[in-house]
Amino acid sequence: PPPGWNLDADVVVVGSGVAGLTAALRCAAGGARTVVVTKARLNAGSTRWAQGGIAAALGEGDSPEQHLDDTLEAGVGLCDENAVRTLVTEGPAAVRRLIEAGADFDRSAETGQIALTREGGHHRNRIVHAGGDATGAEVSRALVDAVRAQNIRTIENALVLDLLKDADGHTAGVTLHVMGEGQHDGVGAVRAPAVVLATGGMGQVYAATTNPAVSTGDGVALALRAGAEVSDLEFVQFHPTVLYLGPEAEGQQPLISEAVRGEGAHLVDADGVRFMQGAHPLAELAPRDIVAKGIMRHAAEQGTDHMYLDARHFGAAMWETRFPTIFAACRAHGIDPVTEPVPVAPAAHYASGGIRTDLSGRTTVPGLYACGEAACTGVHGANRLASNSLLEGLVFAERIAESVLAAGHRAPGPAVVAEGGPAAPLLPAAARTRIQHLMTAGAGVLRSARSLSSAAEKLAALTATVDGKSPEPGVDTWETANLHLVARVLVAAALRREETRGCHWREDFPDRDDEQWRRHIVVTLDSAER
Ligand code: SIN
Repeated sequence: PPPGWNLDADVVVVGSGVAGLTAALRCAAGGARTVVVTKARLNAGSTRWAQGGIAAALGEGDSPEQHLDDTLEAGVGLCDENAVRTLVTEGPAAVRRLIEAGADFDRSAETGQIALTREGGHHRNRIVHAGGDATGAEVSRALVDAVRAQNIRTIENALVLDLLKDADGHTAGVTLHVMGEGQHDGVGAVRAPAVVLATGGMGQVYAATTNPAVSTGDGVALALRAGAEVSDLEFVQFHPTVLYLGPEAEGQQPLISEAVRGEGAHLVDADGVRFMQGAHPLAELAPRDIVAKGIMRHAAEQGTDHMYLDARHFGAAMWETRFPTIFAACRAHGIDPVTEPVPVAPAAHYASGGIRTDLSGRTTVPGLYACGEAACTGVHGANRLASNSLLEGLVFAERIAESVLAAGHRAPGPAVVAEGGPAAPLLPAAARTRIQHLMTAGAGVLRSARSLSSAAEKLAALTATVDGKSPEPGVDTWETANLHLVARVLVAAALRREETRGCHWREDFPDRDDEQWRRHIVVTLDSAER
């Protein structure tokens, strides 16, 4: 039996963003004994930072078919069309259910209808938003309130360590390291025949990211150690317009939502010249990989590392009401978007790949599900369309709950720790900064065989350096080990994909190669390390 304390459940949901809490609410409503475990507080993940909103074909003249077309175009030939069809057809009802559950979205003053805005890659206004640019905060608030109202059992400050499996190789729960939660402090386990990994992204693998500090790829690392397949890890999306705070800026950076461009802001250079016109028919509202590349190219041509977003014409009143979060963030950094263009540069934003699942969120390990940014359902392909991420969390969490409930409440067999875990070598927390810098340098927006091989070598050397030193087990050292593992697999996938597609940009293979590469790089820990 696993060490420390033990708890029994029908399903354990790891993570408390839109995907995790939606899955937990549906599982609990269906009668499953549900436990939510989350690494920090219930609202600490990426969801609450989401600005732009949730994409869904709710507007007059819009249709799931048009949303499908835009999603497939952004994904550059690598989306799974069935998964996208599921997303766009089930999306509108999922958003309505979120409204019924208590989420309060902005409405048009004239009609009282839900207000819809535009973002990159969308040919229609179809983005639902709340509090102007604080959509994720409202989604998180509504879901956390609903989870509390339903008395769903939650364990906060709980870092997931490894998957438990029974003798048949079926999921039997997870081990956790918990701090500051009283009776559950220390290492323990929740035993359950179904585990939903909704642990979010891995933006902290890079030096500068829009992701909060908790986004350290824990779910993907656990899944790899448990033998599950992961797919598309090379497709890291860099958001084109992140507030530029200088070349040394590290950690979570303030996002300037695509919706600012959706409402009419222009990208300009230091001379005030627009440079996205002519680069794509949608100009500033092209899919975000194209805008990120446009910024990087134009900046390189001009010998700089950032560009500007000009929305002075919004005026103070519009900035204050429509984009209060962004307005405050700019001002906190001494920039007044009413009187000056805002400096912006791309930063790591979203893992388009993740733990490979089917349309019910099932991974390749029986009883293990994945949802949201941690998962790769096939809806994003080589580049996620703006505001499809909260939607994916909603739609696929509901499908996972159906699958968990349909599987019945199988009692878990005697648990054994998954093969490969928890023997993952721990890394000293100090190694984190090195990983982040070498990843930004070698596997960032622009990559080549040379930069990636150098990153791979440095990552491998990092293991060798610490071998035998056994850092103390703790949240920092486990997280750093997780970052190290996902970084290694990401770099290996990026080295293999010898073409440029979507958000994977190879300097040495600048063209798309449909003949060789209209396929996914799917790996397990064993195959990645071979
Ligand atoms: C944004 O508001 O620009 C972010 C939207 C997204 O990442 O989908």
